[in-house]
Amino acid sequence: MAKLVGVVLATLFVSSFGNAVVPLGANKDCGVYNFVDNEIVIDGPFNENCILQFETQENRILAFTVVDGDMKEALRFFSIHDGLESDSPILLLENQKILEASRKDLPAALYTTQSGAEIRFLKAPTSNFQLKIQKAVICPFNLGVDSQCGRVVDEVSCYCATFTNRNQADQTMYCVDNKMKLISLENATEEERVQAAWGTLSPFWTSLTDTRREGTWLWESSMTVPEYTNWYPGRPNSVASNTDDCMAYGGATYLTFWGDVNCATTMAHAVCEAQP
Ligand SMILES: *[C@@H]1O[C@H](CO)[C@@H](O)[C@H](O)[C@H]1NC(C)=O
Repeated sequence: MAKLVGVVLATLFVSSFGNAVVPLGANKDCGVYNFVDNEIVIDGPFNENCILQFETQENRILAFTVVDGDMKEALRFFSIHDGLESDSPILLLENQKILEASRKDLPAALYTTQSGAEIRFLKAPTSNFQLKIQKAVICPFNLGVDSQCGRVVDEVSCYCATFTNRNQADQTMYCVDNKMKLISLENATEEERVQAAWGTLSPFWTSLTDTRREGTWLWESSMTVPEYTNWYPGRPNSVASNTDDCMAYGGATYLTFWGDVNCATTMAHAVCEAQP
């Protein structure tokens, strides 16, 4: 009877979003390798001594969160190791570097420093929980002087503000030099979180321009026409001779809204972003 219960507990279910479903075997040591394309959610019951391995693309890292639950509580049952070696160090919530400039709405997450990780179950959990494993970008503290980075929008992307004033082209290249892109504000949530993190007292450059065709605004970083917009009333005021071809938000004139200003002569801060 005890053996039968063990077999039942050893059954592990995996659901995944945007990935092929990876069937995890119910073998004795639960040694299962998973490639994380985007994200995987694993769902108990988990059994004692189970070891699960996860790996994502080479220049990315892994983020672990507990869905509708508490990471601290869940860590009583397993440890997450940074890498696939038997002696790879344990990731600890308390030791986690606080990279976040503003993440009050985001769950507690654990990050690896490399593309692989191992979960080792110490004991079978007494309650069920789901563990989400996501591909994430590395997010440094800053990009050098006068800058600050954080996971301000979600657990997997990274945003960095630079508080040095430059024109729009120079801010574009500053982001590119740091392997990032000048920000595209795709929706109200992204905009609110970025503005909550770094304010709107100073103007900030974005990648929105109509330099390619007067009157057609384009997020240069993603080459998309905006679906979400937040223009200051009466802006943009396009005329054929208009040289205000770039969008900056913030500052005394436009406040939290978007203004069309001169790309070459306006000096402003900027936000760069990196997506997984
Ligand atoms: C808003 O944009 C962010 C960043 O691109 C994205 O992660 C998020 O899914 C978007 N949210 C909605 C509701 O579309």
